[in-house]
Amino acid sequence: MSRNSDPIEAPVITIDGPSGTGKGTIAERLAALLGWHVLDTGALYRCVGLAAVQRAVPLDDDAALGALALGLGIRFADTRVLLDDRDVSGDIRTAAAGEHASRVAASPAVRRALWRLQRDAVRPPGLIADGRDMGTVVFPEALLKLYLDASPWVRAERRYNQLKEKGMDANLRDLARDLEERDRRDRERAVSPSVPAADAVVIDTSNLGIDAVLARVVAQVRQVLPAAVPDSV
Ligand code: DC
Repeated sequence: MSRNSDPIEAPVITIDGPSGTGKGTIAERLAALLGWHVLDTGALYRCVGLAAVQRAVPLDDDAALGALALGLGIRFADTRVLLDDRDVSGDIRTAAAGEHASRVAASPAVRRALWRLQRDAVRPPGLIADGRDMGTVVFPEALLKLYLDASPWVRAERRYNQLKEKGMDANLRDLARDLEERDRRDRERAVSPSVPAADAVVIDTSNLGIDAVLARVVAQVRQVLPAAVPDSV
């Protein structure tokens, strides 16, 4: 999917990779550390999936899904996600919502609709964007592209612990199977497949804690934009 890109007005760091690699946490921690903005693009696809199910739009109807995505009012307010002014922060995090998100994410019309929204999220002093195609499609000109990976079992365990912490019901074996299926769909779809950009720095987080991953990421930021990293870090 290529588009005429308007110049972005602030530096962007992209963090791509499958679920359960720590992308979201690293994006949040890095944004706090640099004082930059953060964009969780998975939440956008989750909102489209949720709205589609609620409005009985078939999850394989490209045109209808694209029109739906264009008309949605998605806003981030601190840690909450608002869909047409309704707080959907919890609703979009269920395993079913992840499945629906992955299905609508295969729609070219949905990806086109969200492309603009994502580009418009760039604001000074900078943006950390996390997702699947941030470095390959949405921000090919990003200052730094990271791709986090981890073994399937480790990723399933992390997702399991996240859901349990939120008091949600989860079964590790089912989660591992669903995650594998969702990742395969994300990797193999025709538009914007979930693959590392050719110029991405790949970090395997299977055996690394969050602090160790963050340290590696900060070292990468120091190389490309030393002035962005505060002296205290
Ligand atoms: O990161 P996540 O689990 O919240 O993402 C939910 C789904 O959305 C995931 O299956 C892939 C899809 N997605 C995508 O295709 N492109 C993005 N930039 C972000 C998420």
